[in-house]
Amino acid sequence: MIETVRDVALLRHVINSWRAVGHRIALVPTMGALHQGHLDLIAGARTHATKVVASVFVNPAQFAPHEDLARYPRNELRDADLLAQAGCDLLYAPDNKVMYPEGFSTHVEVSGVSARWEGTFRPQFFSGVATVVTKLLLQARPNVAMFGEKDWQQLQVVTKLVADLDIETAIIGVTTRREDDGLAMSSRNAYLSPDQRRIAPALARALNGICDAIVADQADIAQFVEATKLSLIGEGFASIDYLAPCHAYSLEPWRRGDPVRVLGAAWLGQTRLIDNCGP
Ligand code: PAF
Repeated sequence: MIETVRDVALLRHVINSWRAVGHRIALVPTMGALHQGHLDLIAGARTHATKVVASVFVNPAQFAPHEDLARYPRNELRDADLLAQAGCDLLYAPDNKVMYPEGFSTHVEVSGVSARWEGTFRPQFFSGVATVVTKLLLQARPNVAMFGEKDWQQLQVVTKLVADLDIETAIIGVTTRREDDGLAMSSRNAYLSPDQRRIAPALARALNGICDAIVADQADIAQFVEATKLSLIGEGFASIDYLAPCHAYSLEPWRRGDPVRVLGAAWLGQTRLIDNCGP
C-alpha cells in the first residue's frame, strides 16, 4: 500500500519531514490511468531523487467542454498499486475542491511556445496544464519533476514556465514508451477499437518518415508532409489536425538548420492521438 494524501497541508507536512532529513524530492504529475510510460517516469525520478511523489489529478481545466473529461479512464486503486510496485513513496490525489477552491481565478499562460499545434486545436489546453503544473510545483516544491516526451510541446511549455517564474525545480523529459508495433503508450489508447488499434501505429511511422526525410536533407519537405497526411488518411485515419516539423524548442515551424522535432495529432474515429519524433 502506498501512503496517499489528498490535501496541500498534509502533502507539505510529509515532504517537509523528508526534506528536513536531507532527501531530494521528485514529483511525477499524472492524470492517472497509468501505463508503462508513467512507470518509466517513476523509474527516472528514482535516479534523480531519494523520495518520489506521484500526483493523480484529472485536471478539468485542460479539457474543453466537448472533450473527454467525463469518460477519461479513472482507477485510483489500480494506479496506487502500480505506483507502490514501481517504488513511488507517496501518492498525492487531490480533488477538484482542493485544486480549484471556490473563487479560484488565477491562470498561467505561457505565450509563444503554447501558441501553435496543440495550442491551436485545443485552445484551453496549455493554460489548464500550465496552471495545474504551477500549482503542483508550488505545493510540493520538488527538486525535480518528470514529464513524458510524448507531449513534447507540453514539456517545452513547462520548461518555459519554470524558467520564467523562477521555480526551483529541474524539469526532466523522459523518452516515450512504445508498444512493440511503435504506437506511443497513452491512456487514451484504451478508447481504440481493435480495428483502430491496428491502424494506430501508422501515426508514429508517418512522423518517423518525415524525420528521416529531414535528416536525409530531402528537397521538398512541405510536399513530403502533405503526401504523408494523404497516406495516413488512406490507412484509415479520419482526419489530421497537424503533422508539423518544428524547431524542437521554440516550436516555430521548422527551417533548414533548426534542431527538429516532428509533431503530429490525428483522429482515429472519435479518438485523438498525438505523438512526435526527433532525429
Ligand atoms: O501529461 C499529463 O498527464 C497532464 O497534462 C499533466 C502534466 C499531469 C497536467 O495535468
